[in-house]
Amino acid sequence: MKILYKNSIDELILLAMESDIARKGDYLLIHDEKINKKMIVQIYNEEYLSSQSLIEDIVKDEVVVASSVENLHDPLDIGKLSRMIRDARLFRTKIRASIDSESKFSNEITWLPSRVDSKINRMRISEINNLVKRTGIYSIHLGNSGWDDEQFEIFADDLDGKLNIVTGKKESGKSHLTKLLIKALVEYGAFVIVMDLNNEYGGLAWNRDGTQSALHKQITILEPGDGLGFSLDYCGKAAISSMLKNALDMPAASLREFIRIWDWLENKNTLDIEALGNAINTWNTNELVRDALISRYHSICSSGLFVGTPTVNHEGLRFESLTARKNQGLALILNMGKAMPVVRRMIVELVLTKVVELLGRDIIPPIFLFAEEAHLYVRDTYWEDIITRMRHFGIYATFITNQPDAISDGIYRQVDNIFLFNFTNDTDLDKISKVSLADSDTVKSIVRTLPQRQCLVIGKVVRDLPMVAKITSSNLMALGQTKTFFKAKASVQGISSIT
Ligand SMILES: Nc1ncnc2c1ncn2[C@@H]1O[C@H](COP(=O)(O)OP(=O)(O)OP(=O)(O)O)[C@@H](O)[C@H]1O
Ligand SMILES: [Mg+2]
Repeated sequence: MKILYKNSIDELILLAMESDIARKGDYLLIHDEKINKKMIVQIYNEEYLSSQSLIEDIVKDEVVVASSVENLHDPLDIGKLSRMIRDARLFRTKIRASIDSESKFSNEITWLPSRVDSKINRMRISEINNLVKRTGIYSIHLGNSGWDDEQFEIFADDLDGKLNIVTGKKESGKSHLTKLLIKALVEYGAFVIVMDLNNEYGGLAWNRDGTQSALHKQITILEPGDGLGFSLDYCGKAAISSMLKNALDMPAASLREFIRIWDWLENKNTLDIEALGNAINTWNTNELVRDALISRYHSICSSGLFVGTPTVNHEGLRFESLTARKNQGLALILNMGKAMPVVRRMIVELVLTKVVELLGRDIIPPIFLFAEEAHLYVRDTYWEDIITRMRHFGIYATFITNQPDAISDGIYRQVDNIFLFNFTNDTDLDKISKVSLADSDTVKSIVRTLPQRQCLVIGKVVRDLPMVAKITSSNLMALGQTKTFFKAKASVQGISSIT
């Protein structure tokens, strides 16, 4: 490889011959031996070397070959040279960093390597890691770098306290990667809450062959009516009021009346679902307010999110008991696949307000929150709340979505890590290239051609050097595949050719 020219402020174009093997996303080290400085560049695109005369030559040659009957006489094998030139490629690279003669690493590049004296070699992931000191205690193995012998890992330390986004088109492997992250976090003892829209994360408890996974005891699957039920008392006035206001659109006047009823029941020590219903029916108030209260009460009852009078054996869900019992790490999977949209919003309001309250009182450890397609059930303002206010309380969010434009720019501005799978749609690519932490040429060019199950990792986990990772498969049970009609039909008929 040789340096050909510099294109813009941060772009070097390299000439590669047939034997120079490197791929998009690879890092190259350009060592200028004369001044003993090194430059790190990343390939973001590969093209043919093409000039008008080269193209004319290729056409002429084809015409000659097609029209001549006898073999061309070429004793000096000139044709080989010309074939090599035709197969020469250009690597478009972005300058990422430089290492000066004292081995000091910096992102400031104010020099140009020599075209004559520079040696260019592909960098291994381990070399890059050493250079940028990408190490940590809690390693998460994600796969390889695309070269089979190079493992790719990130560190849970770099997810701690951070905001992450996993995005890519449908079926690109987002949920699979998220499961790997959750598995590792739980193994390291973290407390994870997953808002699961496709009821697929329960698969973390099982191996593919149907046996229990190593994580089995640390996975708790909750769903409205089945484990995900709170007592009114535990939720508290604040959480219930915010649920009524934000998820059930309760008008202010009715909310004030509700709070009066609540206080009255609390004073009488009879705060439970049944007593609340009776009180609403007999409360002395105007008809409009009563109607508003009754309709919300029905939503509360039919949501399945509340247990009746708490008993010793059945006190409803308490986050602090779960974290205390499973101090080895825990993933709390909130199955919302079958819940109505309004119930999903109620779950989010209740869970987040309660968890923030418990975190504020230091009763539970910080939480890693994974939200799939959160725009479908999280209020717009909540997004920003989660990343600003809640982050300080100890809720570290990862949003998983196939619609990058569903996430507001305010959030992108604060994001620490992005796991970017393939996008081919121009609108999505434009959006993600504008807001991501890497330059838009790299994102557009690499992401457009990423194969399924490979992703571009950007941000703090890779010390701001974007890297392509081929995500490993896992032995965990994969739930949540798209349900198909013909596959089901074929299996009923015993046809195995459709897989
Ligand atoms: N690295 C991988 N190795 C093996 N299988 C994988 C890998 N990544 C994804 N898969 C499989 O490919 C399928 C689609 O992956 P996944 O459900 O993660 O995609 P997705 O991006 O979350 O899709 P959707 O947008 O529909 O939610 C799943 O069956 C999953 O098990
Ligand atoms: Mg998914």
